[in-house]
Amino acid sequence: MPEELKLPAGFARRMVDWQRCQGRQHLPWQHTRDPYRVWLSEIMLQQTQVSTVLDYYPRFLQRFPDVASLAAAAQDDVLALWSGLGYYSRARHLHRCAQDVVERFGGTFPQSAEQLMTLPGIGRSTAAAIAAFCFDERVSILDGNVKRVLSRVLGYDADLAVASHERALWALAERLLPRQPVDMPAYTQSLMDVGATLCQPRKVQCEVCPVHDLCVARAEGQPLAYPVKSRKLKRSSATLWVLWAVNAQGQVWLHKRPARGIWAGLFSLPVFDDEASLLQACPHGRAPRYIEPWKHVLTHRDLYLHPVCMAVESEQPPQCEGQWVHARDWPQLGLPAPIRSLLEGRSG
Ligand code: ADE
Repeated sequence: MPEELKLPAGFARRMVDWQRCQGRQHLPWQHTRDPYRVWLSEIMLQQTQVSTVLDYYPRFLQRFPDVASLAAAAQDDVLALWSGLGYYSRARHLHRCAQDVVERFGGTFPQSAEQLMTLPGIGRSTAAAIAAFCFDERVSILDGNVKRVLSRVLGYDADLAVASHERALWALAERLLPRQPVDMPAYTQSLMDVGATLCQPRKVQCEVCPVHDLCVARAEGQPLAYPVKSRKLKRSSATLWVLWAVNAQGQVWLHKRPARGIWAGLFSLPVFDDEASLLQACPHGRAPRYIEPWKHVLTHRDLYLHPVCMAVESEQPPQCEGQWVHARDWPQLGLPAPIRSLLEGRSG
């Protein structure tokens, strides 16, 4: 991509006009300038589909209607409400961020992207989204969807796995911003909407795209060739042996996982690296029931889960950290999705 690249004239104007007529208008986090609501939606929408967030967002707001109530909450309550959304570090950062807003900013979100970025869990693109939606700041977002849209429109073929190339795309994104008078919320939403609907990773609808005649990738006849990113996600796998101990009262043995590592801070059935370690933690003389193993796919890792169910006496619990939790209580806890499925009998 040459330095002197000529930017397409009228890009922002067309995007804004399209968003106002054809873009999404009825998402529950739109048409508000409340940074708490916008911030919460942006964090939930990272790595999670809109349809899933539509379910969690109102429930979360009902329980924690403002930043002060979230800051004052117990972490376990926050994780429990997040349960099933995945990527739990988001929930821990969310909680810490609320506490920071209260402690450092007197309970009011700062109003610039630069200051928002100093808060836990708020990266450059999320900070820009909040500042643009709530405070009309003239800053660009650049999440995965927007990288795709802009690299296609501009024909930007530099490898985005290289940090300097990504920085250069940020600079181009800033140069594409609308001039005064600015409707930053509509412009920001237009980038998100085009990326989510017309300009998807493997499917494009160029005929109805507001900037199709400006788009280099379309002119080249190969929109799917962008963005260029060389480094493939390195996947790993792990095998987890899961002990599902139940007593005569139907209680299950759960423990709170450490603050670091997989499922950090969530409640879980105890997990072991191998079968022998699992059996060692069990009371003698009890017959294990082996449940059909299954694969649970995370972003960077495949988990092969091998659950073993065992009926045990209350007085002789497994020899590993934990506590008996009643069947009426565990559904309210923050549990990893596959452990919840297992307990609910939906595994496999
Ligand atoms: N993805 C990230 N932010 C979003 C928003 N505000 N609306 C729809 N999808 C999004």
